[in-house]
Amino acid sequence: MTSTIFTGIAELVTGDALLDGGDHSEHLGLLRDAAVVVQDGFIAWVGPAAHGPSADHRQELGGRAVVPGFVDSHSHVVFAGDRSQEFAARMTGIRYDGGGIAASVSATRAASDDELYTMVAARVAEMRSQGTTTVEIKSGYGLTVQDEARSLRIAADFTSETTFLGAHVVPTEFADRRSEYVELVTGAMLSACAPYARWIDVFCEPHSAHAFTEDEARLVLSAGRDAGLGLRVHGNQLGHGPGVRLAVEMGAASVDHCTYLTPADVEQLAAASETTVATLLPGVEFSTRSPYPDARRLLDAGVSIALASDCNPGTCFSSSIPFVLALAVREMNLTPAQALLAATAGGAKSLRRNDIGVIRAGNRADLTVLDAPSYLHLFYRAGVPIARVLDPGDRHGS
Ligand code: NIG
Ligand code: FE
Repeated sequence: MTSTIFTGIAELVTGDALLDGGDHSEHLGLLRDAAVVVQDGFIAWVGPAAHGPSADHRQELGGRAVVPGFVDSHSHVVFAGDRSQEFAARMTGIRYDGGGIAASVSATRAASDDELYTMVAARVAEMRSQGTTTVEIKSGYGLTVQDEARSLRIAADFTSETTFLGAHVVPTEFADRRSEYVELVTGAMLSACAPYARWIDVFCEPHSAHAFTEDEARLVLSAGRDAGLGLRVHGNQLGHGPGVRLAVEMGAASVDHCTYLTPADVEQLAAASETTVATLLPGVEFSTRSPYPDARRLLDAGVSIALASDCNPGTCFSSSIPFVLALAVREMNLTPAQALLAATAGGAKSLRRNDIGVIRAGNRADLTVLDAPSYLHLFYRAGVPIARVLDPGDRHGS
């Protein structure tokens, strides 16, 4: 048992609404001149530095701000290949329809285990170097029994938040046998993948010929639930559609994208706010030249929201939560406080985790330090790499 007290924290964003008696979408639980004691990977004490208890080690952070480690609740970092040309084409006006996923599937299948593992390790390190302490990782670029199971085995080496996404698209070899592919996903593929997965996800999107219909998606989610997996949905990305309705109906933990929402979708999400989080992915709107959803409207309606990167080779090859935060404030009408809470406590809620996303005694010691005196600098200094994960024992900040 060894403990470290972090002092010199000019501003501590705990995200603990109880500290200011408010709700989770507005209240940062902010302390000035604070200290945090970490013991064996967990938070042992949080409070004013003047009252800090003794500890085995002391790290002076020199007037920096500390925020909860970012919870990136949506990523697809197990892939090989490059689709930068597709990005460039979109910037000239070509629409995204999911067709490019096939190129990533071919490259991923062709990669060796070692190559894939090395690429995932590099991407997770890149996330961590920008302040992310929890990452959810999906499969979805293998789309065979072996390649999906392999993707999840690799992902499970980096996170406990692994998601089986065999229902990402119908692979080209099954293009005229869709129902056979759904049978494979809900049968042999699910059996091979479930041991490595906590969640199941489906790309439910009537506006893409490659993705799954509402009925197909319901079959996939039901089979996943029967196999003991939690439910997540990619929905309402390319146009209005059934994704939100289905996610709410099935009690999914999260429906992700929510780019196109009707007033009825917003009402359903608000009514389901304890169960289903709307996970917004503004890096995708950025990288696909799509309209940004109005996140403020969702919060005002009582919807629970999260912000995540969706880091993937097609619609957003950025692993940066600070970039996502800046977009959310500038393009989705959130305040900096609302955006930061959505990328921390919001992400934790979408993963149904109570031990992360908030700096509170008993939680995991997932802390992100900023080379700045206030969390506002995450937005004010957009594009400047000021956020990094705080490792007890790392002397950088002293
Ligand atoms: O979350 N929408 C589906 N899946 C990914 C993109 C996959 C790709 O284009 O490679 C997404 O946007
Ligand atoms: Fe995604």
